[in-house]
Amino acid sequence: MTATMAAMDQASATGCGKIILLGEHSVVYGHPALAAGLPHGASARANPSSETKLRVAPWGVELRPTDDVPLARALGVLLEQAGVAGAFTIDATVELPSGAGLGSSAALGVAVLRALDRARGVTRDADSELAISMAWERVFHGNPSGIDNAMAIAGGLAWYVRDEPLIRVHAKSPIHLVVGDSAEACSTKTTVESIARQREQNPDKINRTLEAIAAIVRNGRLALESGDQVALGQLFDMNQSLLASMLISTSTLEEMIAIAREAGALGAKLTGGGGGGCMIALANDADGAERIREALQGLGKNAFIAKIGERV
Ligand code: PMV
Repeated sequence: MTATMAAMDQASATGCGKIILLGEHSVVYGHPALAAGLPHGASARANPSSETKLRVAPWGVELRPTDDVPLARALGVLLEQAGVAGAFTIDATVELPSGAGLGSSAALGVAVLRALDRARGVTRDADSELAISMAWERVFHGNPSGIDNAMAIAGGLAWYVRDEPLIRVHAKSPIHLVVGDSAEACSTKTTVESIARQREQNPDKINRTLEAIAAIVRNGRLALESGDQVALGQLFDMNQSLLASMLISTSTLEEMIAIAREAGALGAKLTGGGGGGCMIALANDADGAERIREALQGLGKNAFIAKIGERV
């Protein structure tokens, strides 16, 4: 939890952001993915009031469930599925760039649901949280695999297969990732639909590509568990080539990936939906991560370091 989130009211409910290490898009088709929860994400508080509204501070947004925008529709679906009868003002904060592939919408959905539950004294298990936050997420993109929601709920380092319980992965040693934001708005819905169209037109080619990514994910898990960071970096690069072959990388992401590799990254790739958004680079250690972050910042991009896989 970041200082800002810790400073918020103790009653704030939270949801984590996430980084997909390997396996975005193939996970939509039932293949595995490896993901890591971020220590920051979204937080929310709900208080009884005369009418229900959601305020998202950093976005300057205030809306009601009857408004005709996706976030309001998502709120409406969540209120209905969670069985919320009374009216509440929900104040939320998001500490992730939105539309950047870090799972901001799922983190917000989970935080809002948990805030409403807390305000009503409702306890809910993770399966129910997942089902309701998936309904929220479907408003933003029609066919979510559920990985963003599962990670927003559970955090940590995990192996995820659609419609199956999340499995914890234990890295032999923590890894240092640099997350760089291309600042290009990305729509996961658009890239997911693009791959679905390509798959309809050329099922053999796309299915082979998705299966190749699945093999990379399986090897990635072994590399994490055995502490083989060089192999993990190579798998990042291979995953990136396959994602680019499905036309969801961009010239800005490619430039950032090249700069990260020049600055010593063991491997680098886009993360999340692609078509813009964020990339990740695997550093060999903390100093290496700092060098990569500086190189990305030299390109004028926001970048932060995430240490993943520490035992808590
Ligand atoms: O862009 P994000 O953070 O929503 O990540 C999407 C991950 C995809 O695999 C591309 C889609 C999904 O639903 O799994």
